[in-house]
Amino acid sequence: MPAAPTDDERRLARIVRAHDRWRGRSVFNLLASENAVSPAARRLLASDLAGRYTLPMHGEFDGEPIDNSYAGTRYTDQVESLANAAAARVFRAKHATTRPLSGHVAAMSVLATVLPPRARFLAIPPDAGGYDGYAPAYLPALLGQTVAPLPAPGPGHRVDGPAAVETIRREKPDAVVLGQSFFLFPYPLDEIAEAAHAVGALVLYDASHVLGLIAGGAFEDPLRHGTDVLFGSTHKSFPGPQGGIIATDRTDLFERLDPALVWRTFDNAHWNRIAGIAQTLLELERCGADYARTTVENAQALGRALTQEGIPLIAESDGFTRSHQLHVDRPRLRAAHGIGGGVLARRLERQRLLVDLVGRIGTAEIARLGLTPSEMPRLAGLLVRAGVRREKVGPEVLAWRREFPTLRFA
Ligand SMILES: Cc1ncc(COP(=O)(O)O)c(C=O)c1O
Repeated sequence: MPAAPTDDERRLARIVRAHDRWRGRSVFNLLASENAVSPAARRLLASDLAGRYTLPMHGEFDGEPIDNSYAGTRYTDQVESLANAAAARVFRAKHATTRPLSGHVAAMSVLATVLPPRARFLAIPPDAGGYDGYAPAYLPALLGQTVAPLPAPGPGHRVDGPAAVETIRREKPDAVVLGQSFFLFPYPLDEIAEAAHAVGALVLYDASHVLGLIAGGAFEDPLRHGTDVLFGSTHKSFPGPQGGIIATDRTDLFERLDPALVWRTFDNAHWNRIAGIAQTLLELERCGADYARTTVENAQALGRALTQEGIPLIAESDGFTRSHQLHVDRPRLRAAHGIGGGVLARRLERQRLLVDLVGRIGTAEIARLGLTPSEMPRLAGLLVRAGVRREKVGPEVLAWRREFPTLRFA
């Protein structure tokens, strides 16, 4: 191997450094599905754990007792125990695992292991804000399962208790899968769980978007309200490295689920990531309540300020949101300003303000930067000047962003 790095290696390093400067220091990130990872968790991500395996197993091999298929795992296994114990504490669950590689993998693992063969489940369809992964062509097709729609007709794709109960009683599914990608409001969980359990269905809660808010006690507490298995991504409102968590009080389900994670939906679980998630869980134990409350308060304050600035939002009469998300009312945006979500997002990006192209605005990362509700009118003003009036506010955004050099709650 030549001693000096090649041009491509240098180029790669330059690209990643430029990305880090751009996304880490030069923009306000309002993408609802992202967050900033704490410096301590990032250090753990770069540890030697990144290339290691462990496979605890209790039994015999070649007539000899073994406790792991690999050697050198004494610290790796402690990292996993610490991470899983912290996840169980944070979600107040009897059992938790941090192994799933992502929210989607957590969902796939749960559906594949706790449901009977050829199961039928209810899920909120994508056109009502549900996750595309539960649409018939994706996880159900992969797993040989079928899905029927759970209605979410309310403003902001809110689930209506009586309509959900009526659907559950009529469809008698094996499971009700809650959770949305467009996720503003908590569910009538007690009503849904009672109806589901009465027909023998499990309640599975995909908290990918709201996991950090649940951790901080600022949204709802699914496991206290009839949810059988809670799972989700660790990098949206949960401010960790990309991954997934599953938590449950049901020992019978966990005994089916946990051993089946290995060799079914994945094998090696990426121990540097699990160390980073453990660090994030420990940080949430210290300051998760403040973080989650600030995130939701920021979303509500930004909703009020954007409305005053003439940006139409969904669910205005319901206080806009109880989560980290706001939804732009795209038809009304087009009627008022002649643009859709895509043009809005591209104009904002040019001025260092990031939102997605489907009209979601998220406040989790800006809470981590240290922005509070009192700053939301200024942020709304910048969003409107950049997105609607096409003013060049990039330099002002950059100067303001530089006032928040360190992450809070970390
Ligand atoms: C509700 C929901 N579940 C699961 C996922 C998949 O998460 P991941 O990207 O962690 O696999 C998403 C992604 O946006 C989501 O919105």
